[in-house]
Amino acid sequence: MAIKKVIENPANVLSTPCAEVTEINDEIITLLDDLYDTMVEYDGVGIAAPQIDVGLRVAIVELGEERDILEMINPTVVETDGAEVDIEGCLSFPGLYGEVERPSYVKIEACDREGRVYELEAGGFDARAILHEIDHLDGVLFDSKIKRIVTAEELEEMYAEEEE
Ligand code: CO
Repeated sequence: MAIKKVIENPANVLSTPCAEVTEINDEIITLLDDLYDTMVEYDGVGIAAPQIDVGLRVAIVELGEERDILEMINPTVVETDGAEVDIEGCLSFPGLYGEVERPSYVKIEACDREGRVYELEAGGFDARAILHEIDHLDGVLFDSKIKRIVTAEELEEMYAEEEE
């Protein structure tokens, strides 16, 4: 387990579709653990393998209030529904925040670290986080989906209003 350097845009590894994982071995387990350590260190809510310079379809996200860790190996989107606009950021784009439209519901299929295939349904911000990470695995970056950039001042104002 180790904290890795987060690759920042622009970088080839970020804009290239990742390869499928063909075998869940020690390398993949270490990758999952490194992703977790790096996400915690950089205070993210999700991170994908290309962000630590590994071109494989592996990503993790924190879900819900409990911030449970979801590990996704070879995830695919089975179904989406609805649409919602909310603010996103990305560890590979320090300081960039913007409004992005995403489905408000997603159903995915993926493998866990034991090699078990699971299905998972998520809504709201969880769905957003999952889809943001799966986009990374397809070489798609959130800046291409930003409808409106949100400035640091606006963000501060929003947080201030939330605390009131
Ligand atoms: Co990201």
